[in-house]
Amino acid sequence: MQIYLDYSATTPTRPEAIAAMQAALSEQWGNPSSLHVWGQRAAIVVERARVQVARLINAPAESIVFTAGGTEADNLAIMGVVRQYATPQHMIISSVEHSAIAEPVRWLEQLGWQVTRLPVDAQGRVNSLDLRAALQENTVLVSIIYGQSEVGTLQPIQALGTIARAHGAVFHTDAVQVAGRLPLDMQQLPVDLLSLSSHKLYGPQGAGALYVRPGVTLLPLVSGGGQEAKLRSGTQAVPAIAGFGVAAELAMQEMAIETPRLMHLRDYLFEQLADVPGLLPTGVSGAALKTASASRLPHHASFYLPSADGETLNGKTLVRQMNLAGIGISAGSACHSGKLSPSPILQAMGYSDRAAKAGIRLTLGRQTIAADIDWTVMVLKQVLARLAPEPSLLRI
Ligand SMILES: Cc1ncc(COP(=O)(O)O)c(C=O)c1O
Repeated sequence: MQIYLDYSATTPTRPEAIAAMQAALSEQWGNPSSLHVWGQRAAIVVERARVQVARLINAPAESIVFTAGGTEADNLAIMGVVRQYATPQHMIISSVEHSAIAEPVRWLEQLGWQVTRLPVDAQGRVNSLDLRAALQENTVLVSIIYGQSEVGTLQPIQALGTIARAHGAVFHTDAVQVAGRLPLDMQQLPVDLLSLSSHKLYGPQGAGALYVRPGVTLLPLVSGGGQEAKLRSGTQAVPAIAGFGVAAELAMQEMAIETPRLMHLRDYLFEQLADVPGLLPTGVSGAALKTASASRLPHHASFYLPSADGETLNGKTLVRQMNLAGIGISAGSACHSGKLSPSPILQAMGYSDRAAKAGIRLTLGRQTIAADIDWTVMVLKQVLARLAPEPSLLRI
């Protein structure tokens, strides 16, 4: 028996998206910039997908710039704003950004940009008063992740965006984990730039998009033939974009049913693990779990091992043991799985270095059913009993 519970890392490409990709590969293989009929066929595929992705976030089609994924969309948002300034200015991010934001910003800091990283509370949430206090005359960009991939926290984007934009700063949010799972309405959200990724919503890997509010100016990260309204040169990856479009359309159609189903399963998972010795939910105490789950991603549950010693027992040990039992979970964010350093996200939330090496994440998706949760809980209890057998070790 194999159970995949790592839908925040990636999702299986849905058959409808694969069918659209196959058609693009075998029938609509022209270059979408070519004027002849082969080119026109491919261009129709790209423009249809643009409409489908735009509808998912209630935005005009022309506001969608296709990229090679969420990381590139994040980089385009940051660098697209920054490159317009001849001299370094000030920008604000949160202390719980994905590395696709944190890393380019760290590099810009070395080039002289002034960066404020907003603190978060024990749940991982940014306080809008902190944002207000951090704004400076030369703050040109604010970027705050919408749904945190490691601990699932949703940020108060409505409030944060309103404050940033009233100040005249461009406001970006990374909605890679939110899109397709919660409604996103660009007519309502005070957001200038928003990042999306196809493979987090059952489309293929290698496609993503940046929403650019009409009127907001950016400079490209990749220059060349001027595709994607001159913001992302290079022949579009037509098959991947075709699959992304279909996945976005279906995610929108299914959200009203699928999201409450996932929330229900997620809450069931928290309940089943509530009294397990050696495992605590991250970002929330047991009693506050019910209210806290409203401000979490619907499919997301995260925990840590309070008895972990950081060396022989840590998040990765548990992930490996679960893998041996046929269950795929992850240790914090997938991007940190290669190295055993404390999670900067958990550190920012106030966890000790030892605890910050002991985070795990279980993320649910379309194929998850209640029986998968039951089996996973049973296996997790057995593995934990084996790894952390001494009751004296279960307290920090
Ligand atoms: C919040 C967030 N932003 C950005 C990315 C990067 O997206 P991609 O894998 O499409 O480059 C991820 C992927 O893990 C993510 O979770």
